[in-house]
Amino acid sequence: MAFERKAILDSLHPHAKRLAATSMREMFEKDPNRFDDFSLNACNILFDYSKNNIDKRAMAALFDIAKDCKVEKQRNAMWAGEKINNTEGRAVMHMALRYNGDETVQVDGENIMPKIRHQLEKIADFSDKIREGKITSSSGEAFTDIVNIGIGGSDLGPEMVTKALAPYGKDNLRLHFVSNVDGAHITDTLKQLNPKTTLFIIASKTFTTDETMTNASTAKNWLVSALGKQAVAQHFCAISTNIAACVDFGIEQDKVFGFWDFIGGRYSICSVLGLSVAIAIGFDNFRLFLDGAAEMDKHFLKAPIEQNMPVILALLGIWNRNILNCASYAVLPYDQRLNRFPAYLQQLDMESNGKSIDKSGYRVEYSTGSVVFGEAGTNGQHAFYQLIHQGVGIIPVDFLVAANSHENLPEHHSRLLTNCFAQSNALMQGKNLNQVIAELAMSGMSQEQIKNLAPHKVFTGNRPSNTFLYQKLDPKTLGSLIALYEHKIFVQGVIWDINSFDQWGVELGKQLASELLPKLERAGDLSGENSSTAGLIKQYHKIKN
Ligand code: F6P
Repeated sequence: MAFERKAILDSLHPHAKRLAATSMREMFEKDPNRFDDFSLNACNILFDYSKNNIDKRAMAALFDIAKDCKVEKQRNAMWAGEKINNTEGRAVMHMALRYNGDETVQVDGENIMPKIRHQLEKIADFSDKIREGKITSSSGEAFTDIVNIGIGGSDLGPEMVTKALAPYGKDNLRLHFVSNVDGAHITDTLKQLNPKTTLFIIASKTFTTDETMTNASTAKNWLVSALGKQAVAQHFCAISTNIAACVDFGIEQDKVFGFWDFIGGRYSICSVLGLSVAIAIGFDNFRLFLDGAAEMDKHFLKAPIEQNMPVILALLGIWNRNILNCASYAVLPYDQRLNRFPAYLQQLDMESNGKSIDKSGYRVEYSTGSVVFGEAGTNGQHAFYQLIHQGVGIIPVDFLVAANSHENLPEHHSRLLTNCFAQSNALMQGKNLNQVIAELAMSGMSQEQIKNLAPHKVFTGNRPSNTFLYQKLDPKTLGSLIALYEHKIFVQGVIWDINSFDQWGVELGKQLASELLPKLERAGDLSGENSSTAGLIKQYHKIKN
């Protein structure tokens, strides 16, 4: 299988060779319709992919690859509830979480829609009552602060969405997110809070994740020492598949919001895991967010490959990763409120496709996965864009920007937009030596100075980027954007023939950490540890207070 995939991917190389002779800048000059040919609208999002090193023949070859790798068949298998997560024997049903149609959705012969909708109704009711002050604290007061304790998929999605949709939030209701087992995180959060009006959501699919359990127990001790043990039931709720463990912790069963094994942690933001989002922006807005995701799902399920936004985005990623050898890509939302979006995508993409063994258990013979990084624009421009513009390697970029902001500060927004558009333009067109020399000569510089400086001011250009432009960062648009990337990652996993839905790679570190804990805490016997680990622990004991 791995060998076949390599041959399929290698069939793209002649196109890259052919295209290497022409720069993107030349392609734009030659073809005034390039933008029309390589852009697409879906779910009120414009996707401009014209600034990639591609032409129609290369795109046709990429579409053939999607067909050869049976992307549509695999997509339909996912939606049909087949156990495409083969190493865990699980179906992959995040699309069902937001499905708003009338059809049944089956897993193991069961229509899963009633139980999904039941849980959504539960969080609708709960979030409404929290917002309206009808569910109160142990002292009968309305909650003012909600703390989501979780990590990975149980943190990144809710935190990112809550921050992104802050304009839809409610005054006097503050959301906090604690993930890191570093005691600083919970300490700095609790410092701002009044136990009498604080509600904790313990978000953990397994309810066994060490970081989350450690933070949960610190939060519980903090609450108990202020309000007594009997307050726990009113100040804690949970999101988990492990109801028994939640009840053991002291959470009442009707305050446990459930989901299922067919929802992966990093794909769970549309499940009850979105409780903190629903509390922050209200369930009606959360439903709009789900509808936005559902709209992208519909597009993904129905649009032909050649007009399918997630498929095209995925194929361009394959082109950049496998053919142009780009090991990373940058996600650059020109939106301060999306500053956690790159971190969210980092888990979604790198935990899904950071694999080197194919679905049949063989080592792949081609690159998979990419390093994902990013930061809100324009901040990144003053930090790491230097490397994107003039570094040796090529880093493809996804730019995201809204036509309208939530603020009434038009002089800010026009600058934000022009910076975004200028960056993709600069990456594409670059600036050659002749242009640099002419510019420097115009500024009155001597020949000697020009000779020394000019090479440093050259931009090779020809650096790929995609731009997503939408009306406003509202709940619906954000839902669509999330689903877009989920499906992109799925399509790439299909093409690379890897399982995008397990994450065995996170296990070894967890296992070794739990074995090391008693040795570190009790200065135990270090035999069996390598000299580096043993040396670090000995030094730790020497210097700790
Ligand atoms: O880091 C691995 C992981 O299993 C992620 O996939 C998951 O999102 C995170 O840990 C948290 O897991 P849980 O929700 O079970 O606490």
